[in-house]
Amino acid sequence: MNTPHVTARPDPYAGTERRPRIFRDDLLQGRIALVTGGSSGIGFGIVRSFAELGATVALIGRREEKLAEARAELLRDLPAAELVTIAVDVRNHAAMREAVDGIVSRFGCLDILVNNAAGNFHCPTEQLSENGWRAVIDIDLNGTFNGCQAALPGLKASSHGGRIINITVPQALSGWPGSAHAASAKAGVLSLTRSLAVEWGGYGIRVNNVLPGPIAGTEGLKRLYEDRGIADHEYERMAMGTFGLVDDIANACAFLASPGGDFVTGCDFMVDGGRWLKRGWV
Ligand code: HXC
Ligand code: NAP
Repeated sequence: MNTPHVTARPDPYAGTERRPRIFRDDLLQGRIALVTGGSSGIGFGIVRSFAELGATVALIGRREEKLAEARAELLRDLPAAELVTIAVDVRNHAAMREAVDGIVSRFGCLDILVNNAAGNFHCPTEQLSENGWRAVIDIDLNGTFNGCQAALPGLKASSHGGRIINITVPQALSGWPGSAHAASAKAGVLSLTRSLAVEWGGYGIRVNNVLPGPIAGTEGLKRLYEDRGIADHEYERMAMGTFGLVDDIANACAFLASPGGDFVTGCDFMVDGGRWLKRGWV
């Protein structure tokens, strides 16, 4: 609330700015939302936006102290926000069920699930260990399945029509040399989304993918591009001439979670500044 909203980009990699508020303040009033990987980066931005728009938000992550820091930061700007933190690994099916059941029994339902938690690192497939492959598939794909299945009873009970938003990546469509594990896992998520949009449409549940381009100030941008010294090259691939902000992804999620998304299911919402179209030309 108190964070200034500016559009100028003094440092293209910092990502500390906010977009102007585009939704009415009560857009998600009364909604119960769960965001996996809500303690940093894009997930944190989604939690912040949902809370600003009136939702009660549960954040999931592995590390208790990181969740506590995120919660404290959010409450500094939004002292009235209703936030719940739960330390759980999305790879643990039983623990995810227990965590989501706890939210549903406390609040009566779940309106919005955002499967955002993910793992990724650059490693050519020739050098990737079996466990490296397995770890990323397990977090990104199995973790998303675990979230969806655990959330189903709560989403069925939503009076707004439940929403699942799966955060994937444009390279799920193109392939990703050096991150074949993540691209494969996220491609699986794209397909899971489309399957569930049909299977669960009869329950009023909308299931969509959001595909972010490179987002400034995030761990993903740092480890995949900045640490490897190729961020400037990636920057040139942006049709819009800039990396995105976490608010760009949060706004897309807020739209899908709102009544604006009532007739949207099974879609791939590309929010990438035109990177995937321009990349072949530079
Ligand atoms: C090669 C690696 C590696 C690396 C880990 N491994 N990092 N192999 N290069 N850089 C291998 C390990 O050696 C091990 O295999 C296996 O992967 C599992 O590693 P662990 O550390 O034991 O796993 P775990 O603690 O479960 O951690 C999972 C993780 C970690 C994915 C490896 O990086 C993580 O927790 N990441 C979460 C945060 C994250 O990745 N954020 C960015 C998301 S960005 P062996 O064989 O040795 O046992 C994103 C899109 C970005 O998804 C898009 C950019 C624009
Ligand atoms: P990030 O800052 O590294 O955040 C990852 C979050 O997930 C953290 O809250 C982390 O907390 C949690 N997490 C990781 N592994 C987990 C597990 N096994 N169980 C539960 N929680 C776990 O990541 P990011 O860069 O913002 O990326 C977020 C999402 O956007 C990912 O799905 C990514 O693929 C996608 N994406 C990012 C970009 C980008 O530019 N950054 C571009 C395209 C797509 P703990 O470590 O405490 O568990």
